[in-house]
This record gives sequence, C-alpha cells and structure tokens, in this order.
Amino acid sequence: MTEKKLPVFVTGDRPTGKLHLGHLVGSLTKRVEMQNSGKYQCFILIADMQALTDNAKNPQKIRENVLEVVLDYLSVGIDPEKSTIFIQSQIPQLSELTMYYLNLVTVARLERNPTVKNEIKDKNFQRDIPAGFLMYPVSQTADTTAFMAEYIPVGEDQEPMTEQGREIVRSFNAIYGDVLIESKSVLAGTKSCQRLPGIDGKGKMSKSLGNAIYISDSSEVVKKKVFDMYTDPNHIKVSDPGKVEGNIVFAYLDAFVEPDSFEKFLPEYKNLDELKAHYTRGGLGDIKVKNFLFNILENRLSPIREKRKYYEQHLDEVLEILKKGCAHAREVAADTLKKVRTAMGIEYFEDDGLIEYYKNKFNENNKN
Ligand code: TRP
Repeated sequence: MTEKKLPVFVTGDRPTGKLHLGHLVGSLTKRVEMQNSGKYQCFILIADMQALTDNAKNPQKIRENVLEVVLDYLSVGIDPEKSTIFIQSQIPQLSELTMYYLNLVTVARLERNPTVKNEIKDKNFQRDIPAGFLMYPVSQTADTTAFMAEYIPVGEDQEPMTEQGREIVRSFNAIYGDVLIESKSVLAGTKSCQRLPGIDGKGKMSKSLGNAIYISDSSEVVKKKVFDMYTDPNHIKVSDPGKVEGNIVFAYLDAFVEPDSFEKFLPEYKNLDELKAHYTRGGLGDIKVKNFLFNILENRLSPIREKRKYYEQHLDEVLEILKKGCAHAREVAADTLKKVRTAMGIEYFEDDGLIEYYKNKFNENNKN
C-alpha cells in the first residue's frame, strides 16, 4: 500500500532574539493552525546560519538565542509530535545545495532583492556587505527546496525570498530536469496581522528598534508597554474626539480582538466598530481602551507563558526534541541531495553511464 504524501511546508526564524507579537500574529499563529489541520508535513527551522550572515563577529548572540526561539515555538503550540523542529547549521546538505544554487543567480539579481536591499540600508553596510548576507536568499531557497516545500508560511517581507526561490527552481529544473518544486508563501489572514506596528508608532515592530512586546514578556512588562503605547497626541481629555488611524492601540485591537473579547472584557460595546465610533466621537478615554487591550493580550499570552515555563524547566526534553528533529531533517534533505546530484550528473560513483562513456571513448582510441 502506498501512503499518499501530504504537501510540505517549511518555515523558520533567525535566532537573533526572542520572538515578539509581530511574529505571533504575522506568522506563528498561521503555522500552528496549518500544523493542527493535519494536512501538511511541517518543517520549522532555526536559521542560525542565516543569522550569522550579518552577525559573524557576534556568534554568542546567535548561540544564546537558538533555545529562546525553540522555547517560543513550543510555548505557542508548535508540537514536536506534528512538526519537525531543527537547526539549519546541523543539516550540511543545506550548505551543499546552496553552493549549487549560487551558480544559478547573478550578483545583480541578488542586489535587486527588495527585502535584502532594505536590510542593507537599515544595517548601514555601505560597501561592506558580507557576501554571505547578499546571498542569503539563495541559502533560504535551499532551506525550503531540500524538503520539497509547496508552502512557506511567513510574513509579507519574505515574499521576495519566495519569488527568488521560484526563479532558482525554474532554472534548476530547466537545466537539469524536473527535480525541484516551486513554493508559494502563505501569509497570515489580515493586513493588520501582517504589519503589526511597534509600540512607539514609528514603524513595524522589531527587536532592533526596541519597540517590541515579546511573547515571553511578563504580565507587568506587557502592562507597562501597553500603557506606553502611542495613541492620538491630540486626544487629551476624555471628552476630546480621538483618531483611530495611526493609533497604535487600535492597530493592536485590529490584530488581537477575538469574537468573544467584548463579551468577556468590555460588554458595553458589541464590537470594534462601536468602540472606534465612540473614540472618534469623543467621550472614551485611552486608559479604558488600553485596559481592554491589556486584558485581551493577557488572555492570549498567559497560557503561552505557562507552557514556556514548563519547557524552561525541562531543557533536556527540548534538546531531545531538537536532536530528533535534526536527524529527521537530515534524512529528508539527504534524499533530495541524492536526486539533485544525480540530476546534475555529479553522483560519480553510482553512474554506470559515465563508466560506459569512458570505456567507449578509450576503446575507440585504442582502435586507431
Ligand atoms: N528569512 C527568515 C527571517 O528572517 C528566516 C528563514 C530562514 C526562513 N530560512 C527560511 C523562513 C526558510 C522561511 C523558510 O525570519
């Protein structure tokens, strides 16, 4: 009996810090949902090699965040029974595959990748871009194609990687034969989830900008950050009319309100539209809205915190999960590499055709 293989998804994160609420609504929740649907084979990687491409001189930071990210995964509901969690650097096949793919892209194409371009600007590399950094989209293509991923659940900033990945797959298949699969990004449901702003209202939530709420932040810290959030600077008295656009508290409510949130925490309103209308009209204070948001976040984060605490106290279990995950990922990747090398004609010791070719060649020569 042949078992029908489920489609694969591959995704992951760089271990440069703990994961934050932007990750939670922008990607983690979607992954957990896909995992729990039972319709996919799930591979989730800690992209330590990618993190090193711009942190070569700071390996300690990467090393110390690998387990933090795994703990974040486990605490939000990534289930090692259903998903393979692994560390990129422990799968040598990914580096090998990257090397083959590098010949299929040009430096000019790498320089055009909009996400990489933005990062180069943000990191102020000027002329000193590490070569490894410029080519990380190629390595990311190895991460996904090594497992024959059809889907890549990620934030929208990763779409250029997926796009570049598809180009590499197309050129590989055109040259060497149909071996690889093209992948599609899967974005989280709503716009408000895909671009969660930082608490300062100055841009996207990001650890480097220091405007993030972390998934593992304590209740006190979350409360402080919610009460520090940027709202409408002209909404001074409760009676003043307020602006909802650009108001970070409302941006968070858009991303986090659940169907039963009002019933549970703010029963005088039926839904978010009603709340926004009252705020816009005037007569609704920031404190009340912030308290509502805080309650919603607490409701979401407290079970996550509990789960994290369990794993923090059972690190042996976590290491075992990772070891198993890496072993399984290596096996699957090795299988792909076998196909890739065979297609490229570099599987020399299992290539009867090649020996045949030489035998004919030298026999021909001997006849003359
Ligand atoms: N580039 C992703 C990030 O910055 C991390 C990543 C590495 C990734 N390899 C991947 C994401 C493969 C999806 C699939 O978060």
